[in-house]
Amino acid sequence: MDAIAMEWGSLLLRWVHIITGIAWIGSSFYFMHLDAALREGPLLPKGQGGEAWEVHGGGFYHVRKYLVAPENLPKELMWHKWESYSTWISGFFLLVWVYYMSADLYLIDPAVRKITPVAAALCGLGGLALGWLVYDFLCRSPLAKNDVALAAVGFAYIILMAYLFQQVFSARGAFVHTGALMATMMTGNVFFIIIPNQAKVVKSLIAGEAPDPALGKIGKTRSTHNNYLTLPVLFLMMSGHYPLTYSSPYAYIVVGFVLVAGALVRHFYNQRHLGFGDAWWAWAAAAIAMLAAIYISMPASSSGREILGLKPAPALAPVAGLPRAPREVADIIGLRCAMCHAQEPSWPGLAMAPKGIRLDYPEFVERYKQEVRLFSGLTRAMPPNNLSGMTEEERAVIRRWGAARAASLN
Ligand code: HEC
Repeated sequence: MDAIAMEWGSLLLRWVHIITGIAWIGSSFYFMHLDAALREGPLLPKGQGGEAWEVHGGGFYHVRKYLVAPENLPKELMWHKWESYSTWISGFFLLVWVYYMSADLYLIDPAVRKITPVAAALCGLGGLALGWLVYDFLCRSPLAKNDVALAAVGFAYIILMAYLFQQVFSARGAFVHTGALMATMMTGNVFFIIIPNQAKVVKSLIAGEAPDPALGKIGKTRSTHNNYLTLPVLFLMMSGHYPLTYSSPYAYIVVGFVLVAGALVRHFYNQRHLGFGDAWWAWAAAAIAMLAAIYISMPASSSGREILGLKPAPALAPVAGLPRAPREVADIIGLRCAMCHAQEPSWPGLAMAPKGIRLDYPEFVERYKQEVRLFSGLTRAMPPNNLSGMTEEERAVIRRWGAARAASLN
């Protein structure tokens, strides 16, 4: 598809996805906080577990929680489910648009595994479905009786999936799929567990029966899982724009430390809102986990890596036999772009290729033809501020090559 349509499509989908994500996470944080802030009062009627007074936007709010359900169903009941569904749906379309439709750019790295775009997409979708099934199975198994045991096994499972994704996809593709996997578990919790359980409660109320209190409890547990996953998921979704986070051969360990750090920060707030005091140790432990993540992510050339005997990042050169950009184009890019867009850029202040886009071999220039055309031919976005002095003649060469390649693709 046309480079401009791809770029705009990606921007618009991302826009929607961020908005729905804010709505979902906002309401999730709000209800976790509200639940923890509920207090028992002398005037609370029987059947109510607590109440909270809040002030916001010029008004006072008085919220009460029913332990199982009210005796009579109110006429208007506000459900909170579309925040979650629309986040997953927009995220899914974004995944398809960016990673499956431009699989050669973002999802497939021939140095990791040579697979077709269709096979890669099927692996991705299969991985997401499997992710939910295994997680749901764990939550229903006897293991779930022990919160700590379930958290430990769930944690190991996510890292295992991150490792497996890393054996199939490009580093960036593996990271985003790990994030999408956790996000799928979260929406799965809402769609398959929390809302159906809530609907069962409503149904018994309408039938005039007493609803089963276990239904609400299970919903609360899953909602708590979602709460602990939120911060790590957001990190993984953003990290696609920060190649340092995912380029290390140990990226799955980075995922592990980020999971720990994000969960600890949520733990701090959950404890605080419950009135259990400030667990400052959680912040300290989260900071140590993030330092460990940073250490693991450091490129091979940075000092200190040898101490732990960690392997350096592989793949300096492209694998043999890939198509190459023509000499004339590759020379221009080599002269104007490669000082920054290389595995180890010579431009001061750059630790690695910006956005993970390497243009130091004709094979890589060919791979990123759409981006090169868009950013240095059709627009003057690159080089930044034309730092390397690209001429208009050179841009014209890029445009001609890009247009010819685009025509041959369509
Ligand atoms: C002085 C260093 C430097 C030079 C030279 C340079 N780039 Fe970049 N490039 C960057 C940085 C930094 C970014 C990341 C910008 C950001 O974070 O939004 C980037 C990002 C990009 C992106 C990704 C844009 C996106 O948002 O997805 C492309 C494509 C790109 N450059 C292509 C080129 C091409 C083609 C050339 C040569 C014509 C070039 N760059 C020259 C530093 C450079």
